[in-house]
Amino acid sequence: MRWLVLASLLYSLFRAWRGWKGKHRFTQTDNATRHWTATIAHIQLFLGIWLYSISPIIAYFFESFKTAVHNRDVRFFGMEHSIMMVLAVVLITIGSMKAKQKKEDEQKFKTMFVWFGIALLVILSSIPWSFSPLVSRPLWRGF
Ligand code: HEM
Repeated sequence: MRWLVLASLLYSLFRAWRGWKGKHRFTQTDNATRHWTATIAHIQLFLGIWLYSISPIIAYFFESFKTAVHNRDVRFFGMEHSIMMVLAVVLITIGSMKAKQKKEDEQKFKTMFVWFGIALLVILSSIPWSFSPLVSRPLWRGF
């Protein structure tokens, strides 16, 4: 699901940029892309909130707050990651709603590009990348 969030955002940005700069018509496919990108982000939001409620890392974060808050790995999921990702989904939701409300096609593309673009930057900055020297997790989890 987390990879789908990134893929849908990248695809949205590609269509929005192409439509904006190429002065294209905002088609039903563009609208579906906008809609599904926001929906996928919302599913990830609920998965994240669910993870937050069952994660032993988060349980430890609240049980032993005074010490846990100084543990970078624990604080990352307890605060930074979760807050920034919720913010990103809020940005996607606002951007999607604003793009829907705009009358002109150029404005729809531009609005989508700007809001989704900022959200993507927030998400990219808050992922525990496998290559991150700070907090890292594997890129892929096997079943
Ligand atoms: C919106 C995009 C999001 C992306 C791309 C994302 C990505 C990730 C990744 C890559 C991990 C590491 C998983 C692993 O160990 O393999 C993770 C863990 C986690 N995420 Fe997110 N996340 C997102 C949103 C959220 C939100 C909104 C919340 C909570 C409000 C959240 C809470 C957590 C928690 C608590 C963990 C750690 C779970 C554990 O290992 O016990 N995430 N996330």
